[in-house]
Parts: sequence; C-alpha cells; structure tokens
Amino acid sequence: MGLVISYPRSGLSPGPILIARELYKAYFLGKTVYAVNNVDLTVMPGEFLVVLGPSGSGKSTLLSLLAGLDRPISGEVILDGHVLTSLNENQLADMRRRKVGYVFQFFNLVPHLTAYQNVSLPITLTGAPDWFVAQRAAELLDLVGLAGRRGHLPAQMSGGEQQRVAIARALANEPRIVFADEPTGNLDSRTGGQIRSLFRELNRDFGQTFVVVTHDERFAEAADRVLRLIDGRLSLVAGVEESRS
Ligand SMILES: Nc1ncnc2c1ncn2[C@@H]1O[C@H](COP(=O)(O)OP(=O)(O)O)[C@@H](O)[C@H]1O
Ligand SMILES: [Mg+2]
Repeated sequence: MGLVISYPRSGLSPGPILIARELYKAYFLGKTVYAVNNVDLTVMPGEFLVVLGPSGSGKSTLLSLLAGLDRPISGEVILDGHVLTSLNENQLADMRRRKVGYVFQFFNLVPHLTAYQNVSLPITLTGAPDWFVAQRAAELLDLVGLAGRRGHLPAQMSGGEQQRVAIARALANEPRIVFADEPTGNLDSRTGGQIRSLFRELNRDFGQTFVVVTHDERFAEAADRVLRLIDGRLSLVAGVEESRS
C-alpha cells in the first residue's frame, strides 16, 4: 500500500486529508487541451470544500484525479497519507473502496437493485457479516430519510430520492472523504436545496469531509471554502461573498 508520509499529528492540528501537487491532465484533440492545469490543493479533515466552475472548466476531470478514479499526466495526489499516483490498479481500487465516497450527477445506482441493496452492496464487498450489513444499510437509509423506500427500485423513486440513496451508498463504508460531481445538476431547485442541506448536515453533525464540484452557485452557502476552476486552473480562492460577485 503506497508510501505513508508522516504529518505532524496532534489533537489541535490534524494533517490534511487530501493533498494535490502540480496536477496536470491533458487530452490531445489535434492540439493539446489541458483539462486540469497545474492544480495545487489541500483539504483538511472536516472541511466542506466547493469548487465552482462553468461547464467544460475541468471539474469532473479534477474530481476523478483527486478520488483516484483517473491518473494525472504529472503531479501527485496524497489521500490520507497514501500517494495515490504511486499505487497500482488493485491498490487504487482498494483505497477507493476503503477511504472514498463518490456521488455522481446521474446517481449511477444499479437499476435492478433496490434502495437497500444499492446501499448494502459496498458494505458486503468489505467482507462484513450479514448482520452488520443489514444494520448499517438500514441506518444509512434512515439517515437520508428513506427508511420507507428500502424496497424500491431506482426507477420507482424520484430524482431526489435516487440521489439520497446514492449519498447513503457513498457514506456506506465511513469514507474519510466524499467527492460529489454536480450532485444537484440533475435535480429541480427545491430538491437540489434538500440535497445541499443534507450535505451540510452530514458535515456539521458528523464532520464528514466533502469536496463538491459544481456549477450550482448556491452550494457556496454550504461551504467552508469556495474555489473557482476556470480552464483547468484553480486560480482564485474566494470566500462566499466574492464567489457571488
Ligand atoms: N475523455 C476526454 N477526451 C477528450 N477531452 C476530454 C475528455 N474528458 C474531458 N475532456 C475535455 O476536458 C475539458 C474539461 O472537461 P470536464 O472535466 O468534463 O469539465 P466539466 O466537468 O467542468 O464540465 C473539456 O474541454 C472537455 O472537452
Ligand atoms: Mg462535469
């Protein structure tokens, strides 16, 4: 399992949960297009970070690099002390399963599995006993307000309900960090508001660390910190006020 680097650890100053250094990702489409261009980023445990950017600014690309779903052409990602960029595919998959929750714009639930089965699947994959899987999945569905929907298939639920199942699934194995790619991008504004509130509650009540990339400016209100991504560059560090201007 990759290099474990040491941080100064004390009760007062825990080390960063995520560090990205000089990250680059490019695509060659007749000419080289930098989707992520020299990104440096540090995320602290318990932080709620929102990265705002227009369509095509590199949000999905950046998030997949940070979560270890994709590899940069250069630079380094360190997640919870592990250098992701030096892990092989099996080690990366293991790291994602144990440390990372991921929420997608289009929910990405398994269509033929019920809400309960979608949430319990990643718990089962850790080798947990059946009684634990059942207990944890029920708790998670309760947490996102869907205890009454456990037997529903994705097609039998609203978009907001499907996204809440996806959030419960992302939280299944108590991830150190949850990444979300446009989690309100496919929801009406009222349902989007419910999802933003749920993220904020999970952050406040459980100290869940979040990195959300979105063009939904209203996410700025939930954030501890707001960054802007433009043409792959995370250039401007903005507070909530600035981000609205
Ligand atoms: N697989 C790919 N092949 C070629 N170009 C890509 C690919 N994925 C993304 N891009 C390009 O990279 C840039 C950033 O894309 P993306 O990360 O999807 O932005 P966003 O999520 O902010 O809309 C865009 O110019 C996009 O066209
Ligand atoms: Mg995107």
